[in-house]
Amino acid sequence: MTRPRPGFADDLDETLAEAFRLLARGVADRRSPIHTPSLASIGPDGAPRIRTLVLRGFDAPTRTLRVHSDRRSGKAMEIAADPRVAVHAYDAGAQVQLRLGGTATLHAEDAIADAAWATSTDNARLVYTTALPPGAAIPTPTLPSALSDGREHFAVLVLRFDALEWLWLCADGHRRARFGWDSAGQASAEWCVP
Ligand SMILES: Cc1cc2nc3c(=O)[nH]c(=O)nc-3n(C[C@H](O)[C@H](O)[C@H](O)COP(=O)(O)O)c2cc1C
Repeated sequence: MTRPRPGFADDLDETLAEAFRLLARGVADRRSPIHTPSLASIGPDGAPRIRTLVLRGFDAPTRTLRVHSDRRSGKAMEIAADPRVAVHAYDAGAQVQLRLGGTATLHAEDAIADAAWATSTDNARLVYTTALPPGAAIPTPTLPSALSDGREHFAVLVLRFDALEWLWLCADGHRRARFGWDSAGQASAEWCVP
């Protein structure tokens, strides 16, 4: 039996709304593949760097995603030098790939970081307690005991996207769409060849 075609199939507004629904579900549902997207940044040598992160927040009106990391991490250094980032996620159940492009800002000492730290579990806080920064070489895989509660190493990265590319795989014909927002917030949307 063929599945009914969803309402977003041939409708750009519905497609964007569906992309936003998937992002919101990625925050709320730990089993969603969009809960752990990939974040790419630009290394000091100009080469791309990519890693998995937990998606902690999504705010549709400001087109921002929130992720948490160690402020001493490679990604934090890279973003401080060049804030351009890309985010990738593929939801195999929905057969949707999302690719976002935008800029990141690091929040370590402000109310955004305080609020995120306040809602972090003890387990989530544990990774920020190391005296040595992430990526530092250690002689054995065992970490020395924690020196602090980790707050001074914790940071929030707010990723604001101004480009979103949608790819929906469908046996009847794939659908690819590009959405963009200029600096005045003016939106554009178009279909493109998958
Ligand atoms: C499923 C999964 C979730 C992860 N979530 C986070 C996260 O939320 N924050 C984070 O800093 N690193 C997270 N990591 C580790 C990163 O992928 C990465 O290895 C680490 O942050 C170092 O990256 P960097 O050296 O590029 O800064 C996660 C890894 C996996 C596999």
